[in-house]
Amino acid sequence: MNWRELKKLTKKNIEKCCQVIEKEENLLPEAIAIKYFPTVVERTKGAEIWDIDGNRFIDFLSSAAVYNIGHSHPAVVEAVKNHIEKIQNYTIVYFYNEEPVKLAELLTQSTPGDFPKKVAYGFSGSDSVDSAIKAARAFTGKKYIISFKHSYHGMTYGSLSATGIIDQETKKVICPDEHIVFAEYPDPYRNKWGIDGYAEPDLLSQKALLEIEKLIEDLQGDVAGVIIEPAQGDGGMIFPPAEFMKGLRTLTEEKNIVFIDEEVQTGMGRSGKMWAIDHYDVAPDVVVSAKALGGGMPLGAVIGRAEIMDAVPVPFFAYTHSGHSVNCAAAVAVLETLKKENLLQKAEERGLFLKEWFKEKASQYPFIGDVRGKGLLMGVEIVSDKASKTPDKATALKISWAAWERGLILITFGKNGNVLRVAPPINISDQLLEEALEIIDASFKDTAEGKVPDAILPCLKGW
Ligand SMILES: Cc1ncc(COP(=O)(O)O)c(C=O)c1O
Repeated sequence: MNWRELKKLTKKNIEKCCQVIEKEENLLPEAIAIKYFPTVVERTKGAEIWDIDGNRFIDFLSSAAVYNIGHSHPAVVEAVKNHIEKIQNYTIVYFYNEEPVKLAELLTQSTPGDFPKKVAYGFSGSDSVDSAIKAARAFTGKKYIISFKHSYHGMTYGSLSATGIIDQETKKVICPDEHIVFAEYPDPYRNKWGIDGYAEPDLLSQKALLEIEKLIEDLQGDVAGVIIEPAQGDGGMIFPPAEFMKGLRTLTEEKNIVFIDEEVQTGMGRSGKMWAIDHYDVAPDVVVSAKALGGGMPLGAVIGRAEIMDAVPVPFFAYTHSGHSVNCAAAVAVLETLKKENLLQKAEERGLFLKEWFKEKASQYPFIGDVRGKGLLMGVEIVSDKASKTPDKATALKISWAAWERGLILITFGKNGNVLRVAPPINISDQLLEEALEIIDASFKDTAEGKVPDAILPCLKGW
């Protein structure tokens, strides 16, 4: 993102923001981020955020699917305040603490599968994915992990090695792990087989499963785990056919391969079910959670079959701050709030409403190629024409810019960088939702009428 040029193009006053950004440029490495807009966030509440110049935005990003119950939810604030007065944390590496145990009880009950489970904690999605990979290898004694092309699993060494959306050549230099292989994710809208996966989910599933069977064969069965997002998030919010997920479960069971359900982005009620895997009626061996789990406090969890988690030797899950007491208390408050405010049902209802709304817009605007998702895990794919489905990142960025100008955070993502990311807090008010949709409508209109200058394109990068 070229904020210096954007400053000239925006109608907003972002003077103070730019001063901070200039300092950040000198002090923090570029690799920490994929910056979108020159906004320095000062204050957040519910589904709204304010920058240090006083500009206000509705948040359709939820800080990357973290604030499922909204920013600074009173239940989380209260849990953190009350708890920190008593104790910040005492390491569970050497002693015991009640909060991680309380949370583990709730998490083991909430995840699918009627078998004994155990929970290991981390701080982020990335290190939690590492733990899941460790568990799969420790349990099976096998080496390889099958991941998926265009997947995102994080930036620690293990999770990065399993990430498919990063340029693989660059990755190999920094993080050479030869024991991860990548399979095709069955994207119903755009896949290498040219199958319309919405019309022919069985065919798409068969093709993708056959490829995975072949991979396992080529690796002579030395496969410890398969790690899969039940909807590929940063890949562009792609839900695979249910037949595929069921087939993958059967295959992994037959071959004694650990099925790792990676729910860092998709979990905690956002899809209209507690876990996105619940849409497929599949019980994974291991579930990985983070992001929304801590309600804004850094927390990750790996919830797995007890025998798999117990296969990891001491002390391979031990981190000084794991199961952090305050953060676990915040997570308990998040789980209680999801229930109390009936947010799973709300996510489902809001998702259905938004899907209809975007589909209606797709009949008006030629650049909306696909509207997909479940609950408030949604993606709107922007294309240059609907027949060829050619990805149109430039138009997606223009819509995103027009929305930001009007006060809505609506960023782009996806394997081609051309998908609008629709992920507001689940409990966004009707009034704010209506205002956000008016902004999106106006942004579509401006873009269609050529009112968004091409000059912004070299300044924006996106995914
Ligand atoms: C699906 C998925 N897995 C893992 C991660 C990594 O999580 P974190 O950034 O908390 O390390 C992300 C982050 O965007 C994600 O979307």
